[in-house]
Amino acid sequence: MWSREYLGGENLIKKGVKMVKVKSYANIAIVKYWGKKDAEKMIPSTSSISLTLNDMFTETEMEFINDEDIKIAVEKEIKSENCKDKFGDMTDLFYLNGELQDSVHTEKISKVVDLFRKNRSQKVKISTTNNMPTAAGLSSSSSGLSAVIKACNELFGKSYTQSELAQISKFGSGSSSRSFFGPVAAWDKDTGEIYEVKTDLRLAMIVLVLNENKKEISSRNGMELCAKTSTYFDEWVKQSEIDFINMKKYLAENDFEKVGTLTEENALRMHKTIETANPPFTYFNEKTYEAMDFVKNLRNNGEKCYFTMDAGPNVKVLCLEEDLEKLAGIFEEKYKIIVSKTVKL
Ligand code: DP6
Repeated sequence: MWSREYLGGENLIKKGVKMVKVKSYANIAIVKYWGKKDAEKMIPSTSSISLTLNDMFTETEMEFINDEDIKIAVEKEIKSENCKDKFGDMTDLFYLNGELQDSVHTEKISKVVDLFRKNRSQKVKISTTNNMPTAAGLSSSSSGLSAVIKACNELFGKSYTQSELAQISKFGSGSSSRSFFGPVAAWDKDTGEIYEVKTDLRLAMIVLVLNENKKEISSRNGMELCAKTSTYFDEWVKQSEIDFINMKKYLAENDFEKVGTLTEENALRMHKTIETANPPFTYFNEKTYEAMDFVKNLRNNGEKCYFTMDAGPNVKVLCLEEDLEKLAGIFEEKYKIIVSKTVKL
């Protein structure tokens, strides 16, 4: 059990060994980050704005371990799975939802930990639990990555500010940087800043879980292909600059209808870069289109709800917190849903 809610983290002493626990939240963009202007410096092609979600989160524990701990854990895994090669040369242990991850997955996380440690002789065990399906375009990467960054900050005693952590986090995964601010966060492509956007609107999301399988094309690969080959990409970048300015304005004016309309338009524009890539591809399936129509029909009948989609088939519905219960009741009859308010950080 988690003894308290914490944003930074909690230091515990377990069997005389320092261990930290943190919690971090997923975010879903209403103006999308899609494309990198400079992948090395992590400058995005587009500025983005997202909601940080209270009920979609990752909990992460981290502690120091030694070579013997790794040997024992790997031996145990090999006995049960009989796949020696998968766990070779691991310098850390990474458990995701209770399962030891293989060398390839662990190495990705080890690289993030490298941003905090002197060298790989400082070995860690990371145990992470997502309360949502992993890697199905449900933003588990944004909460997962930001949680590891928060845990490192605690374990290595760094005391970085939220802004500094967000700047580190973007190198792990761009969208994760926005999980350090909430309820609404922005990442500005020109200044590089990541910060909270003020609004009095109390926004919420309903995720329609249409497919829980891992996506075939990662956001990283998908956006790279679009930036390189989409005939619509330049137009997307130009229009997105206008969308970013307008979205901030509508949020400041607390104009939900305009926020919602632009959320839909911006998401469709992002997906247009995917349809116009070479070769063209799609993250949508039939259920995605059906759900989009369902949202539109509800709106035509007076409900205040708007859709957005990321690098996966699931549809996320933007609404006001005051309508959350009523709308959840409607969607629940037809779909498996995850309901979430936003979180103030
Ligand atoms: C579609 O943050 O996953 O969710 O920076 O390459 O790790 P990398 O990409 P990632 O991209 C997410 C893109 C998106 C839209 C968004 O969240 O803004």
